[in-house]
Amino acid sequence: MSETYYVTTPIYYVNDVPHIGHAYTTIAADVLARFKRMDGYKVHFLTGTDEHGQKIERAAQAKGEKPIELADRVVERFKTLWSRLNISYDDFIRTSEDRHKRSVHRLFEIVKDKGDIHLGEYEDWYCVHDETFFTQTQLENGNCPMCGRSVEKLKEESYFFKMSAYQERLVAHIEQNPEFIQPTTRRNEILSFVKEGLRDLSISRTSFSWGIPVPGDPRHVIYVWFDALTNYLSALDYFDDPDGTGAFWPADVHLIGKDILRHHAVYWPTFLLSAGIGLPKKVFAHGWWTVEGQKMSKSLNNFVDPDPVAETYGVDQLRYFLLREIPFGQDGDFSISALKGRINSDLANDLGNLLNRFVSMNAKYFEGKIGEPQEKGEGDAELEAGCGRALEALRTNMDGVAFNRALIEIWELISQANKYIDRSAPWTLNKEGRTERLGSVMYAIAETLRIAAMLVYPFMPESADKMWRQLGLETEIADARYDPDAGWGGLPAGTVTVKGDPLFPRID
Ligand code: MSP
Repeated sequence: MSETYYVTTPIYYVNDVPHIGHAYTTIAADVLARFKRMDGYKVHFLTGTDEHGQKIERAAQAKGEKPIELADRVVERFKTLWSRLNISYDDFIRTSEDRHKRSVHRLFEIVKDKGDIHLGEYEDWYCVHDETFFTQTQLENGNCPMCGRSVEKLKEESYFFKMSAYQERLVAHIEQNPEFIQPTTRRNEILSFVKEGLRDLSISRTSFSWGIPVPGDPRHVIYVWFDALTNYLSALDYFDDPDGTGAFWPADVHLIGKDILRHHAVYWPTFLLSAGIGLPKKVFAHGWWTVEGQKMSKSLNNFVDPDPVAETYGVDQLRYFLLREIPFGQDGDFSISALKGRINSDLANDLGNLLNRFVSMNAKYFEGKIGEPQEKGEGDAELEAGCGRALEALRTNMDGVAFNRALIEIWELISQANKYIDRSAPWTLNKEGRTERLGSVMYAIAETLRIAAMLVYPFMPESADKMWRQLGLETEIADARYDPDAGWGGLPAGTVTVKGDPLFPRID
């Protein structure tokens, strides 16, 4: 039986339509999912929408519709975008679904039976935008420390979760598992936050109704973060099908943005500890994108819609740019000039050109036919070793969620192959009539391109498929497996390469 791999994105609020920040995490998760499938794992890739809570209720009111109507509409926007961006999710969970509500009730009841839920009164501050509670001292200049918006004073009856009881176990877990929270700087922030002391967490509200009722006390709805975080279990049908999809738990990685790390690295693990459920193996918090040097905001109205960007510059170009431009844990700036720069240099010049050079030469010298390599020569062994190295580096970097490093190392191979062509000078071999050596050089380049297609596939599935076709391969690249298909020599002799359109047209 193959090993399993469970990767998740945050579930997105439905009060706003998708923007580049949402696309970022979802593309990243897709890359991990596609990589792990190609590496032989049984993968479950989950995304979805977060539909309850005061923020959604108010957004719907403002638009004069019911919350579920708003949700139904926006969910379609997300699904359309994900299909446009080639997101290969296995499941899409909506928190308004019955399967989810059932699981939230189950988790609530398990925690309650454990003695970790009690009724009290909440009196402090609340940020509706972030759906998060704050004490007076946590506020910054009287505003929300997360988003800077104004906060509301709450005084209402509430159920509390005994989060304080799990402080020590959480500290121990973080200390014993350095991979649990990544990147390390964020891990350290969480560790010191937890060490300062955990207060009990308010986990229900009474002043609005759009949510899942507290079992046995329908005056209360369950706090939207308790509700939302449970999606990672409910989509697996964890409580009812523990040996089926439930067996994907614990998650291998929750990908999230840095703003929601505390919810994922403090609230979520303490709920799970209370319920006696295993903790996710890794929570990775990525940075935030600014746009042309500015924060995306309603007032600037500068949210980048990924759809027209993909339309103009290409889906794979956008996917590549987002993951190559900045290390995953850091903030970065999205600009059209940087996007064009990456397309013209890395994609058109390096990778596109390599394929194009090869296919043209092979057509000219051998009418496209690839033969058995007959005469090994200088650089062949290094190229073969380069392919093996790039695959090993990809494995390491995917486990470390280091997309930009993975791409840099693949591009080292591409540059090595371009240099191999220059050094072996097929045009001279041709002129000198050294047909056997020329055929072997063509084979080595074809083989490197075939393996490179498999390496870039998780990032740029459509382009990898085009490479595969131009190389004359008739199988589906999605069905290829690194082991054994990325081994040197897998390219059958007799394959006929096919000239095609440039992989990545230059942008002027
Ligand atoms: N519904 C919650 C998540 C619940 S998960 C159990 C939520 N939703 S959200 O729609 O507001 O945000 C989803 C994600 O988008 C977050 O991970 C957030 O970091 C990310 N981003 C929002 N703006 C972003 C950028 N400008 N750049 C990168 N990511 C950004 O939070």
